Amino acid sequence: MKRSKIRDLLATGTPGDEVCVQGWVKTRRDSKNLSFIQVNDGSTLSDLQVVAEDTLDSYGIVSLLTTGCSVSITGSLVESPGKGQRYEVQAQSVELLGDADSETYPLQKKRHTLEFLRDIGHLRPRTNTLGAIARVRSTLAYAIHRFFQDKGFLYVQTPIITASDAEGAGSMFRVTTLPLDELAAGKGSADLEEDFFGRAVNLTVSGQLEAEIYALALSDVYTFGPTFRAENSNTSRHLAEFWMVEPEVAFCDLDGLAELSEEFLKYIFGYVMENCPEDMAFFDRFYGEGTISTLQGIVDSRFERLTYTEAIDLLQKSGRSFEFPVEWGSDLQSEHERHLTEVELGRPVIVTDYPAGIKAFYMRLNDDERTVAAMDVLVPRIGEIIGGSQREERLDVLQRRIGESGMDPHRYWWYLDLRRYGTVPHAGFGLGFERTLQFVTNMQNIRDVVAFPRTPGSAEF
Ligand code: 4AD
Ligand code: MG
Repeated sequence: MKRSKIRDLLATGTPGDEVCVQGWVKTRRDSKNLSFIQVNDGSTLSDLQVVAEDTLDSYGIVSLLTTGCSVSITGSLVESPGKGQRYEVQAQSVELLGDADSETYPLQKKRHTLEFLRDIGHLRPRTNTLGAIARVRSTLAYAIHRFFQDKGFLYVQTPIITASDAEGAGSMFRVTTLPLDELAAGKGSADLEEDFFGRAVNLTVSGQLEAEIYALALSDVYTFGPTFRAENSNTSRHLAEFWMVEPEVAFCDLDGLAELSEEFLKYIFGYVMENCPEDMAFFDRFYGEGTISTLQGIVDSRFERLTYTEAIDLLQKSGRSFEFPVEWGSDLQSEHERHLTEVELGRPVIVTDYPAGIKAFYMRLNDDERTVAAMDVLVPRIGEIIGGSQREERLDVLQRRIGESGMDPHRYWWYLDLRRYGTVPHAGFGLGFERTLQFVTNMQNIRDVVAFPRTPGSAEF
């Protein structure tokens, strides 16, 4: 018999259906002459209750079932007299597919801490929390593609191995086939020309520069892929490997980009609330009441807009003492960002026009020559979720900015060429996918919204 997903059984099954359910045992509880087995197959948060009577041929097996065993069960779907569940399965046969030694299986019925679960990354997707994260993550990815595809944006795949440093002097992971072990042991010498690509390359920190190439041919494009940063920031908001969504839009200025970012965030938040109601109710219940109402509030209200200069002014007038000083010209720290969006404004805010000195070389210089047409979208609890800008489309200004940043203009010959041949105003942003998930689900630590976190000193699984 074909396997039914528990999700589909609960949504569209009819009493009397003969069904086959396969999954993992959450718990088993015995009563006088029956057993209740809670089975989950990951298709939904809800476990399916299976009732096995002791008259079954396979009842001997039922008494062996412990948490974590995998099973295949056939039976009929019946209305459940129990509270909180619509249907249950009256078992006709129970087959044990894989045993799980109850002495050593680490996931027992009690609630485990998220820290403990990180050490068992190979088993944690079987928990309610990580299962819910996986489903919301998948839905969020789908919503992102839908938003851009519906608007006619082309999905382009930018390279993971690249010779460019999109963010300028960023912290990058070098990619090499040079014999590092031998070099470390003092044997041989490193000749860059003998390296695989004949030059120094690294894992990409952003697909933006390559996305610009496509935007300047196809107008509206986006990338969505993994990016890598070797910054040694062991915080609850940083990963060494994270996913980024980067739309790049030709014939667009900073205002147009800010509008796009607001529409985009509202769409994907709304999509997740609509399509993951059960998982979102779970986060609301166990990870902070107000998770859903906060998201709904954001979807329903307009984002605030502030220039960086206005933001500095607000922070200085707030009377609060911050760990990092607030002064025009230094970057906003997470504590400043959170204060703005949580305390001062109580809603997302798009901060624009940052000092040129603290932003990347490609951002368009404003007429004041002190600020650039940059924008960050800040949200409560997370701070910066999006970073973007209008791009410098004027060849001479870009050349100057590259020089001032201490970068080698020859290496960016193709990026400059795009300004030589048919340049147009264009703009784009990057959304941190994991930070977005953190925000949507209310998880405190970014390590819990990615399947296999990569952080300093940690790359198990
Ligand atoms: O602000 P960032 O560095 O912007 C760029 O990389 C641009 N090239 C994007 C563009 O204009 N196309 O990064 C964009 C977003 C941040 O706002 C943040 O949400 C996320 O990426 N991010 C990280 N997420 C997790 N771990 C890290 N180490 C992150 N660094 C940035
Ligand atoms: Mg940024």
